[in-house]
Amino acid sequence: MRTIILNEPGKFERIETDAPGEPNVGEATVRVRRIGICGTDLHAFWGNQPFFTYPRILGHELGVEVVAVGDGVEGLRPGDRCVVEPYLNCGVCIACHRGKTNCCASLKVLGVHTDGGMRELINVPAIKLHKSETLSLEQLALVETLGIGAHAVQRSQAEKGEFALVIGAGPIGLAVMQFALAAGTQVIAMDVNTRRLEFCQKQMGVPMLVHAGDDETNANRLRELTNGDMPTIVFDATGHPDSMAKAFRYVAPGGKFVFVGLYQGDYTFNDPDFHRRELTLLATRNSTPQDFRNIIALMEHETIDTTPWITHRAAFDEMPDQFPSWLNAETGVIKAVIDCD
Ligand SMILES: NC(=O)c1ccc[n+]([C@@H]2O[C@H](COP(=O)([O-])OP(=O)(O)OC[C@H]3O[C@@H](n4cnc5c(N)ncnc54)[C@H](O)[C@@H]3O)[C@@H](O)[C@H]2O)c1
Ligand SMILES: [Zn+2]
Ligand SMILES: [Zn+2]
Repeated sequence: MRTIILNEPGKFERIETDAPGEPNVGEATVRVRRIGICGTDLHAFWGNQPFFTYPRILGHELGVEVVAVGDGVEGLRPGDRCVVEPYLNCGVCIACHRGKTNCCASLKVLGVHTDGGMRELINVPAIKLHKSETLSLEQLALVETLGIGAHAVQRSQAEKGEFALVIGAGPIGLAVMQFALAAGTQVIAMDVNTRRLEFCQKQMGVPMLVHAGDDETNANRLRELTNGDMPTIVFDATGHPDSMAKAFRYVAPGGKFVFVGLYQGDYTFNDPDFHRRELTLLATRNSTPQDFRNIIALMEHETIDTTPWITHRAAFDEMPDQFPSWLNAETGVIKAVIDCD
């Protein structure tokens, strides 16, 4: 069957691989029909993700169709369209026991730590499939990315009417904004990239924008927008240590600071500054099965509109040639999706 493998950084290859065998107990065989591409795939391609090993079949944002189910699988039948929740958790660690499967102590992400969906067929645990009767395969391929935002907003316990600042308007920041808007918060988007800020406003209806400058100017602008109070929730979706350090001062007293962006290094902050305002600092990672179900319901009820998300498309065989252009934010790429049909 057709497969695309990343042999080493920068080198995709189209190869033929064996089809998977019959699904085992509790598994399903699915046909991969749409694949979303995100920053993780781009980092794998560049070779700057420390935990990445090669060769690897990428693909973790998958819109799939069920082909066969193994024994003991209920509620799924051939023809069902699903999104794959790619977070393969152990089921026995403390995090799994407490329902926090998104941060399992020995988590393996399909298409990141294990071979993923850039191939025709794949066997997956049936409990990792979330189906929808009405969503398109493209919409299903967006659910995983949206999950990062949905989970971050769920962690923040955002309440209607409060000011939520989202720093970084890349795909992850946009996902956060989407759910912060759905939660009824007054969203402020901050980025250094004007084009991305315009996208937030025009395509997603984000009401307030801040073009990031020096931190004094940013803080003054935020004070103006929030009637002098500052935002009660700040999400960092940049992963840039400078921005993350500066952003501490943008949080209102008693507020929350949520790290969505990842920084591969140490991070320090001033304790009195943190204590005086009794801030809450939260990390968020991936998302849970419940987040997947919530997102599917919000999409089915058209509470969230994903039309603006997909900016680039390519056929499966064309992907290796198109992929490098998706590395460049200047092309206006938000989400590229591969059509495997
Ligand atoms: N929590 C999770 O589970 C999870 C999952 C996937 C990705 N991530 C992380 O989320 C982060 C964002 O991912 P992405 O794909 O959207 O990245 P991206 O690079 O496309 O977007 C980052 C945005 O931040 C902006 N930015 C950079 N420095 C800034 C500054 N000083 N002030 C304001 N804006 C600034 C950039 O212009 C860009 O628009 C990354 O760190 C990524 O590793 C987290
Ligand atoms: Zn992704
Ligand atoms: Zn576990």
